[in-house]
Amino acid sequence: MQDCPTFVSHLECSLTGKRYPADTVQGLSEAGRPILVRYDLPAMAKSITKAKLAARAEGGFWRYREMLPVRRSENVISLGEVMTPLIEATNCAKKLGSAALIVKDEGRLPTGSFKARGLALAVSMAKELGIRRMAMPTNGNAGSALAAYCSHAGMESYVFCPDDTPPVNVREIALQGARTFLVNGLINDCGRIVGEGKDKMGWFDTSTLKEPYRIEGKKTMGLELAEQLGWSVPDVILYPTGGGTGLIGMWKAFAELETIGFIGSKRPRMVSVQAAGCAPIVKAYDEGVEHAELWKDAHTVAAGIRVPVAVGDFLILRAVRESRGFAIAVDDDAIVAALAEMAADDGILLCPEGAATYAAYKQALADGRIDKSERAVLFNCATGLKYPLPEAGRSLDMHKPIDFAAMAR
Ligand SMILES: Cc1ncc(COP(=O)(O)O)c(C=O)c1O
Repeated sequence: MQDCPTFVSHLECSLTGKRYPADTVQGLSEAGRPILVRYDLPAMAKSITKAKLAARAEGGFWRYREMLPVRRSENVISLGEVMTPLIEATNCAKKLGSAALIVKDEGRLPTGSFKARGLALAVSMAKELGIRRMAMPTNGNAGSALAAYCSHAGMESYVFCPDDTPPVNVREIALQGARTFLVNGLINDCGRIVGEGKDKMGWFDTSTLKEPYRIEGKKTMGLELAEQLGWSVPDVILYPTGGGTGLIGMWKAFAELETIGFIGSKRPRMVSVQAAGCAPIVKAYDEGVEHAELWKDAHTVAAGIRVPVAVGDFLILRAVRESRGFAIAVDDDAIVAALAEMAADDGILLCPEGAATYAAYKQALADGRIDKSERAVLFNCATGLKYPLPEAGRSLDMHKPIDFAAMAR
């Protein structure tokens, strides 16, 4: 990878606008809120063109180097990222009478989820800033990506998961080199342990939105989507929302792309999808308030979106409202049914969180919040193969005559 100019001008508190210098180690702002990376966008616009990008052979998100904060190429940690495909769910769309239903399949990324984007950036920036030891609470996929990118970078990682995190996640985290702990609580309880141990253990708190760079990685979902659609945006994006980094990141990406002249002023309607058993953002959206309350007794089969409280709640709600989108909750039965339906009809094996977006899409079509004529993109954030799958298969006794006619039944 060649050295390439980057255009970070400063860091900025997302609530108060207070500025912090670029290239410094930062957690939350003084106001206790996420810090965003800001760029010299006019200079970026002069340096990068659509043609230059199109000529790049590199497929993954590091192709957007000028729009990202890592200054030196030797600090870029890569595990072979790819541009994730847009797959038309033609059979599901036909059944529902929809004009276009597209799945962006993030399961193709290293460690099998979109968390690779945020953690590649966070770990690369940590390396650039001299951090050697990182820690995070996780519902599974983020911990796996942290472990993998840290190990690849020769850095240490400490990962804390709720003790009912899908076993495959816990095992991949540990195998990829993290010191892995199971906590008898939820992700916010794990987060408290990370915060408490920070000074004692000398680790950097890599929790969702508690450092400025994961969001820059997630931003690349928006950059990539716009490039794949010929530098345009879809009508609607449905995003499974836990901490909301991806939704906030894409919203930031579209604003930056407009400023550098890559897209126009059209924005997709951003739809925040949550599970009915853990829907703090949906409740806040419905009540018209700016911050979400902690959700009690959170439960859902979609482990990745079981996030009872999000430090960037107001940023999620702001993006949803500014885009004239909405927030919607779907119950677990609808998630499980949606997963099975898209797998059988279109051969696309969604993760439960991705399936939540398909369930939400169907619900929103039925209640008129999404129109059949709109081009909708569902984010499938992880490979469906990471999750427990229902038992299947019929036994055949090879020693007896085979009843072939019965097979089609
Ligand atoms: C598969 C999956 N989908 C969605 C999410 C939620 O992502 P975000 O924190 O960006 O809202 C997660 C987070 O763990 C996840 O693992």
